[in-house]
Amino acid sequence: MNRLAVLASGNGTNLQAVLDACVDGRLPAAQVVAVVVNHRDAYALERAQRSNIPTLYHPFYPYRQDGRSRSLYDADLAALLEPYKPDLIILAGWMHILSMAFLKYYPGRVLNIHPALPGTFPGMHAIERAYEAFQRGEIDHTGVMVHLAPDEGVDVGPLVLQREVPIYPADSLEDLEARMHETEHELYIEAIAKVLAQLVPNN
Ligand code: GAR
Repeated sequence: MNRLAVLASGNGTNLQAVLDACVDGRLPAAQVVAVVVNHRDAYALERAQRSNIPTLYHPFYPYRQDGRSRSLYDADLAALLEPYKPDLIILAGWMHILSMAFLKYYPGRVLNIHPALPGTFPGMHAIERAYEAFQRGEIDHTGVMVHLAPDEGVDVGPLVLQREVPIYPADSLEDLEARMHETEHELYIEAIAKVLAQLVPNN
């Protein structure tokens, strides 16, 4: 079995897609062994608990309050996850830039999903920014990508899979968000399966 650790900051619909795929046979050789959230009210926490997955709450604000660094936070995150021996780290709306203090432990083993095509709309609110660019006539489609996260670059790294998502003139922002999330939930599972198929065993 491949051991997945999922890091999530919010609603957790991508986490849910992964949890479902582990059960319904689309990721037959994978199990989620831990879910980390950095906000107590992240709905991802409830989704994990409902599936009886061990959860870890690792907030950044105590570090910020007493001046401890982002690197220390990430080193502690790595230490928290170590007992779970994850083969692959799945970033599912993890709204922190991971530093090398964490990434050095998982070379080629950290996956990120971003709701935009490579090189476009990195960072927050990518769907909204694509929607606005469409309104200005600058783009006629957007997309979703899954990539490896080898370093501290924001939403950039070796591409695993991408898929274009059309934008239609009659779309509301909510229409586009729904189409994007549906694409994400499919693409992330395909990308995880692809990476797992190529993964050299960890230990
Ligand atoms: C997803 O759209 C994901 O692609 C995005 O956050 C959302 C999390 O939704 N990630 C980024 O923007 C990374 N820069 P979820 O909590 O429902 O999975």
